[in-house]
Amino acid sequence: MKDLFEKCLGDSGYFGPFRVRGDHYFSRPVLDPVPGHEMIFHGQKVIQWSINNYLGLAESEEIKALAVEAARTYGASAPMGARMMTGNTEYHIALEKKFADWLQKEDAVLFNYGYLGVIGTIASLVDATDTIIVDKLSHASMLDGIFVSQAKFRVYRHNDMNSLESHLKHVNKDRKGGVMIVTEGVFGMRGDIADLPAICALKEKYDARIFIDDAHGFGVMGEKGRGSGEYFGVHDKLDIYFGTFAKAFAAIGGVTATTKPVAEWIRYNARTQIFAKSLPMIYVQVLSKTLDIIANDQARRKKMWENAAKIKAGIRDLGYEVGEVPSPLCAVYVPAGDVPLGMAIIKSLRDMGIFVTGVIYPVVPKGILLFRMVPTASHTDEDIQRTIAAFKKVRDDLKLDLGATKTMMSQEPGD
Ligand SMILES: Cc1ncc(COP(=O)(O)O)c(C=O)c1O
Repeated sequence: MKDLFEKCLGDSGYFGPFRVRGDHYFSRPVLDPVPGHEMIFHGQKVIQWSINNYLGLAESEEIKALAVEAARTYGASAPMGARMMTGNTEYHIALEKKFADWLQKEDAVLFNYGYLGVIGTIASLVDATDTIIVDKLSHASMLDGIFVSQAKFRVYRHNDMNSLESHLKHVNKDRKGGVMIVTEGVFGMRGDIADLPAICALKEKYDARIFIDDAHGFGVMGEKGRGSGEYFGVHDKLDIYFGTFAKAFAAIGGVTATTKPVAEWIRYNARTQIFAKSLPMIYVQVLSKTLDIIANDQARRKKMWENAAKIKAGIRDLGYEVGEVPSPLCAVYVPAGDVPLGMAIIKSLRDMGIFVTGVIYPVVPKGILLFRMVPTASHTDEDIQRTIAAFKKVRDDLKLDLGATKTMMSQEPGD
């Protein structure tokens, strides 16, 4: 007979070898918490490319002052209780209305975390009689939402509309329940974007609904920052638009925007929120201001896009494969072969004061290391030049075979 805890002593599980080694460099690196384009890592100042501070709002003194003011008034505890019981306030209601208006949807529902918002939204609307068709590279929160919902589910090849259509056709042959297409908007790891015009056309053709988790497009994509749907001009066709506050909004929480009856249903049925304390007042106060900034301050988005163009071009010019994606994400693909070489690249960059994080299989094909770099409005030209110089040095010192990347990338991730 096996003891339940036996595995905890071995190196299985997520990042098992790193866990067993007690590593705090590659996995769970310990960083000074003050966020910004520069941060402190292992006592050294580093240029930070791994936080989702797209618009630089994590560094806004105006927002910090507002948070302090809210903390003085409400403390860390308010409101006490779930929204269903004692945690509902006029401020929460007003913030939901403000998000609904900005997102041009009838209504919006706040959640405490993006992760819980995605699970709560999906699982409240879908049950075992329904089917979910999900993009293969969708974030864990969507997969967990599917598992919690107990819906039947099918996985389509990443952003492959033929694959999606064949699943829709198959499900409709003998369809009893509803169908939900689930995808990220901007895919957070590689920065590519779901083909929303085609997905919207398919959902209409096959009488399905679409849920989009636009964690990385929210506040970022589209002229007004309303996200990936706005970028493509199909925002009004998205049945459920979800955004997290943990990235461009530089806070905590998330929001589901949809029609009035669907939002009301979610409010009364999303277990991840009805059985949890409501979003703290500090965030409610701060987010109202953050939304004003995101809606009205085009300068931050413009700077982010300029910085994204500069860093992508600079690293690409060195011969690295950099994703041609419409989002600001700078996805640098390095043929790292085995794990030790990957770790050596990360270590060299960090030693030069450039903090990047490596992403591996199954997000990218085996043997490839993806540096998922987030250009923000607060990076400076000097940050960018120093980073490009560091990538050049790593290329030369470690004699990276950059030419091999394209061939290796042709393999579908996760296959
Ligand atoms: C696509 C996507 N959805 C959901 C989440 C979870 O959001 P949060 O950190 O607000 O819980 C993330 C965060 O990494 C994400 O990238």
